[in-house]
Amino acid sequence: MSMTSGDAPFKLQIDVRDVSHTYRPARGHTVLALESVSLQIAPREFVALLGPSGCGKSTLLYLVGGFLPVETGAIEIEGAPVGAPGPDRGIVFQHFALFPWKTVRANVRYGLEKMGLARPEQERRAQGYIDLVGLKGFEESYPSQLSGGMKQRAALARTLAVEPKILLMDEPFGALDAQTRSLMQTELLAIWQKTQKTVIFVTHDVQEAVLLAQRVVVMSARPGRVKAVVPVGLDRADPHLVRTAAFGAKVDEIWSLVREEELKVR
Ligand SMILES: Nc1ncnc2c1ncn2[C@@H]1O[C@H](COP(=O)(O)OP(=O)(O)OP(=O)(O)O)[C@@H](O)[C@H]1O
Ligand SMILES: [Mg+2]
Repeated sequence: MSMTSGDAPFKLQIDVRDVSHTYRPARGHTVLALESVSLQIAPREFVALLGPSGCGKSTLLYLVGGFLPVETGAIEIEGAPVGAPGPDRGIVFQHFALFPWKTVRANVRYGLEKMGLARPEQERRAQGYIDLVGLKGFEESYPSQLSGGMKQRAALARTLAVEPKILLMDEPFGALDAQTRSLMQTELLAIWQKTQKTVIFVTHDVQEAVLLAQRVVVMSARPGRVKAVVPVGLDRADPHLVRTAAFGAKVDEIWSLVREEELKVR
């Protein structure tokens, strides 16, 4: 599938082709979570995933991240089938996955140690990302001593510190208060613009999706399929973007697609 208007072959960063996923728990019943999902993402693209609860958004991220085996269909990262999780893909889990026995600093340093960075470089980078997410002063705190939003920011710092090419973010700002959320959105956009990462960002917030993403993928109710892919095409440099009519119209357009699916699961 070509994504450009020119005739140069376009290199895809993430290519999801016809992927279905069935959970077969040892107890309880089999669940078809995803059905024939295809999604092509270009290098440096920022894509948001929206859809009703249980439609398979997290499942799709786990598959791209290599945390679940691809059983039906294919997922390729830069032309190679996904294997195990790797430092090229950073994932921010929906339910923050910090090590409870490690401090904030040690949590953020963890991936850097595994990469084999020299200790001073680990310290420097960890501190930079701790500062970035606004956790300066809490370096020696343990997760149990942090609020939900702070834990989420620590988890974000840990993922960003590894500087992965691909960021897989599962409702990363879901537990943040409105003000912190807005600050983190601005920071994430700045990081994305500066470091040219490819981002898949799961959210339930249509405004957030329109604000951040270049394309918004709306998924259907379970089993999750791609219902629509909506290009956003707004001027993110406009500081008053959220108050423009174009922004409101885009939010309404996507919201009505999401609502059709939400109604199916009630
Ligand atoms: N480990 C599992 N075993 C069995 N079923 C599962 C498992 N994980 C998820 N499911 C089922 O697969 C479906 C998709 O789950 P998933 O977590 O991907 O949805 P989601 O879109 O991320 O939902 P939410 O918006 O609530 O986070 C759901 O119906 C869920 O019950
Ligand atoms: Mg989820």
